[in-house]
Amino acid sequence: MSLLQVNQVSKRFGGLTANQDVSFSVDAGTVVGLIGPNGAGKTTMFNCVAGYYVPSAGSITLDGRSIGGLPPEACARAGVGRTFQVARTFTSMTACENVMAAAMLLQHNVAKARKAAMEWLAFANLQRFADKPAASMTISEQRRLAVARALAIEPKILLMDEVMAGLNPSEVREAVDVVLKIRDRGIACLIVEHVLEGIMPIADKIVVLDRGMKIAEGTPQQVSNDPAVLTAYLGD
Ligand SMILES: Nc1ncnc2c1ncn2[C@@H]1O[C@H](COP(=O)(O)OP(=O)(O)OP(=O)(O)O)[C@@H](O)[C@H]1O
Ligand SMILES: [Mg+2]
Repeated sequence: MSLLQVNQVSKRFGGLTANQDVSFSVDAGTVVGLIGPNGAGKTTMFNCVAGYYVPSAGSITLDGRSIGGLPPEACARAGVGRTFQVARTFTSMTACENVMAAAMLLQHNVAKARKAAMEWLAFANLQRFADKPAASMTISEQRRLAVARALAIEPKILLMDEVMAGLNPSEVREAVDVVLKIRDRGIACLIVEHVLEGIMPIADKIVVLDRGMKIAEGTPQQVSNDPAVLTAYLGD
């Protein structure tokens, strides 16, 4: 049984179908890329898995337990961590306080939450910013901060929404290294990414959405040679 199973999930907004009958799975300890053109429904799918949207139809299970339709905090407690496409960094707070805010979900003791936050900052190679305002960090560092925050809830699966967008090649490599470190800790990674050179080399599997529907699934090599995928990205 897979860690995450998305079965026939649809999400409609009025007359607009953002996800239609989408099914895929993520095995424990693997990296899965969720790709597709703008508006394909990738962020909507993340919001369904993380409890920000209630699916219109279908089921979502984590470790065999139904999480579809649960609120965000319950999904987080069940083991779904996430970052946001539009950053939700508290820029006037320090890097450590940003991560502590998430760690407090599990650990109400402030000193212990601070210790856990410092460990996740070190994991993301950001310990030097612990007591500096998040506003002083580069975009690349703020993306890693968002990852550290998501990790502080000790997820079984981490959903990352375009954490590599706008980064230069060496920053993309740093982000890729962090993803591999997360996977090596046994945490599954589901990654929405337009930066294909970031995701393709490290993904065990790629799922391709287009106009709300899954149009392909397979190894990075399989999907990059799939005519339907080329058409979705390049047009007819
Ligand atoms: N809350 C909402 N209300 C109405 N429509 C929405 C809502 N969220 C998303 N949509 C619509 O659903 C469709 C899919 O959007 P979504 O943000 O999931 O795409 P995406 O694949 O993440 O795109 P991008 O690559 O640009 O981030 C779009 O047509 C979008 O306008
Ligand atoms: Mg999106």
